[in-house]
Amino acid sequence: MDTDTLLTTTRSVRRKLDLDRPVEPDVLADCLRIAQQAPIAGAFAAGFRWLVVDDRATKDQLAPIIRADGEKSFDTYGAGLPERTLASGRHLLAVLERIPVYVVACLTGRPTGEHAVLTAFYGSVYPAVWSLQLALRSRGLGSTIVGYHLAGHEADVARLLGIPPEVTQVSMLAVGYTTTGTFRPGARPAVEDITYYNRWGTTA
Ligand SMILES: Cc1cc2nc3c(=O)[nH]c(=O)nc-3n(C[C@H](O)[C@H](O)[C@H](O)COP(=O)(O)O)c2cc1C
Repeated sequence: MDTDTLLTTTRSVRRKLDLDRPVEPDVLADCLRIAQQAPIAGAFAAGFRWLVVDDRATKDQLAPIIRADGEKSFDTYGAGLPERTLASGRHLLAVLERIPVYVVACLTGRPTGEHAVLTAFYGSVYPAVWSLQLALRSRGLGSTIVGYHLAGHEADVARLLGIPPEVTQVSMLAVGYTTTGTFRPGARPAVEDITYYNRWGTTA
């Protein structure tokens, strides 16, 4: 797959995850190794960790926490979402126990205050998360971010997974092989409409 295709067709996969096909630890480790090459603010680099959850008993305990917050999120924000997105999200919530692997991207620290610190903190994790999503896609796997439990129940998940209180769970990915290899570019606004030149609001 050429790079432009990879970059434009890596979607959030929820309904097309193969729930019955295990993800080989070696394949996942290769993807994590690639994702580690992503940029990270130097001050935070030493505190980055991946936590991989593939144990069924642990997933059985994790799933209800994510599901409860996910349902709350759909009750609150669902009305504004397209029907397809809502159905896709609800499907994911229904099968959480069967997701082959979860990957939690963690960073040591509890950032507060200064905008520059906050943006460097969270911004140090998402490049690696997206690189992981791309590396997975290039190997026939798909993923989606599941952040529901971060709205109030991050500590419950931390206790379950043994994550120390000073470590922030920035992002969690649900990962599995995909049941199709065909993904298309998503709907996005025209780049000409959202790109300004030299002055805010001045399009080409
Ligand atoms: C910071 C962040 C948090 C997200 N949280 C969730 C989530 O909790 N549940 C979910 O289904 N998708 C989540 N997503 C995925 C977005 O919903 C998805 O990227 C968006 O709908 C665009 O769809 P696409 O990725 O298929 O292009 C999240 C994405 C980002 C960047």
